[in-house]
Amino acid sequence: MSDERLRRVRDRVRSFPDFPVPGVLFRDISPLLKDPVAFRTLIDLLEDHVRASFPKIDFIVGLDSRGFLIGPPLAQRLGIGFVPIRKKGKLPGPTESVSYALEYGKAELEIQTDAVEPGQKVVIVDDLLATGGTMCAAYELLKRLKAEILECLVVIELKPLKGLEKLSSIPFYSLLQYD
Ligand code: PRP
Ligand code: ADE
Repeated sequence: MSDERLRRVRDRVRSFPDFPVPGVLFRDISPLLKDPVAFRTLIDLLEDHVRASFPKIDFIVGLDSRGFLIGPPLAQRLGIGFVPIRKKGKLPGPTESVSYALEYGKAELEIQTDAVEPGQKVVIVDDLLATGGTMCAAYELLKRLKAEILECLVVIELKPLKGLEKLSSIPFYSLLQYD
């Protein structure tokens, strides 16, 4: 993977200490979204990775809310559909739900029961892995629907929060790692 392209993406992530609560160093992707060249480069890099790794995918699944910024453009590039996993109470019809802990709080995620058929192949996409609670909850929801989860994919991995340990044997890939 090209260092130059990775650098272009990394240069557009900024950090804010003590947001949203004291002790959290918040990694902000707003400048990345604002810069069309850097954002295109991000989607290029994710597309290259996914195409090289998986010959067939049915859906990109994105996590509420920042996963919705990355997932749909990636799904469009791949020519496949996008499925949202949302915070509690946003999706109509029958849903599966699971509660989980965050770096700064607690939440509940939901998926529509008919979103994915058993055996369909999905890649789960989010902007960032911190403690791994969100990604594990999404994995659990898709397991309940009997999806085949090819990979959990994030732009940013916050290494010190050890989210990868929580994911244990679940296939995982991050574009950028922060110590
Ligand atoms: C952030 C981020 C990830 C999650 C990672 O979302 O976008 O989804 O936290 O944290 P974890 O690995 O500790 O679970 P947040 O819940 O803050 O919601 P947002 O995307 O709506 O800002
Ligand atoms: N989500 C959870 N932890 C985060 C952090 N440190 N920066 C940005 N988003 C986050």
